[in-house]
Amino acid sequence: MITLRPITDANRAAVVALDVTPAQQAYVAGVAESLDEAEQCPEAMPWYRAIYDDDTPVGFVMISDNIPPGDPTLLGPYYLWRLLIDAAHQGRGHGRAALDLVIDHLRTRPAAEVLLTSVVPGEESSPLGFYLRLGFQDTGTFHDGERVLRLPLTPNPR
Ligand SMILES: CC(C)(COP(=O)(O)OP(=O)(O)OC[C@H]1O[C@@H](n2cnc3c(N)ncnc32)[C@H](O)[C@@H]1OP(=O)(O)O)[C@@H](O)C(=O)NCCC(=O)NCCS
Repeated sequence: MITLRPITDANRAAVVALDVTPAQQAYVAGVAESLDEAEQCPEAMPWYRAIYDDDTPVGFVMISDNIPPGDPTLLGPYYLWRLLIDAAHQGRGHGRAALDLVIDHLRTRPAAEVLLTSVVPGEESSPLGFYLRLGFQDTGTFHDGERVLRLPLTPNPR
């Protein structure tokens, strides 16, 4: 079963060791870099978890969790900032299951009507097809050179 767990001193090394394929590295930063970004950008309201398959860490997810209005440089209030499934564990539904758990979390949050994300444009290894498959819509707009996607959260995202 897929669960989201906090990152602690006990599991940090195992989670930081997770990695995507070399081709995918062009599209997503790793866990260590994500944790650094979270520390450097408290204004982006980082909320992150390790993705577990039973007791095995298989991925990492980070969102912006209700960014206060007023900073146009940040996408929000709810933004899927990072999602990665380790190369050895991809293609088994874990990415979809993790996103479902993030959506469960968002349903507890105030005025969470849309989850935004963005993808680096590219042909191969891009996660664009994954997001479209999961119900994200292409907004046709760009932010910092990345294509912005949106997932309506109410009444039923998929
Ligand atoms: C994108 C990623 C999170 C998908 O995780 P995953 O566990 O392999 O995906 P799932 O097995 O849950 O796939 C869910 C569905 O999306 C489809 N899918 C997965 N990757 C896809 C892709 N690149 N293009 C098109 N469809 C894709 C699957 O076929 C599956 O479809 P189905 O449910 O109808 O059978 C994973 O490949 C990854 O970590 N990639 C590198 C990091 C990255 O790019 N992250 C996103 C940017 S932050």
